Amino acid sequence: MAFNKLTVLPQGVEILLPNGSPLTDIEYETPQRLISFGCRSGACGACVVEVVEGLDSLGEKDLDELDFLEDLGRGDGNYRLACQCRLWGEATVRAAD
Ligand code: FES
Repeated sequence: MAFNKLTVLPQGVEILLPNGSPLTDIEYETPQRLISFGCRSGACGACVVEVVEGLDSLGEKDLDELDFLEDLGRGDGNYRLACQCRLWGEATVRAAD
């Protein structure tokens, strides 16, 4: 099975996940709360991350995610809802404040 590396800032923690894993799976890999997940269904905005590298590794945003990010003022393209992403390559994200 192929694994991809996800780096989560500001801690700089590196996590390996199987190809195509949802980002919510990082919680199985570390006891640290690197990203604040809430609803896990794209509805609360708790899990917004800024993608520093590897935007293409997180797949395409669907329209619901895009609309909600725009509602949150984060529709500029480098933000994602981590609960709606799967990891298809190497990426670095920063938990938004
Ligand atoms: S956890 Fe609620 S939008 Fe991602």
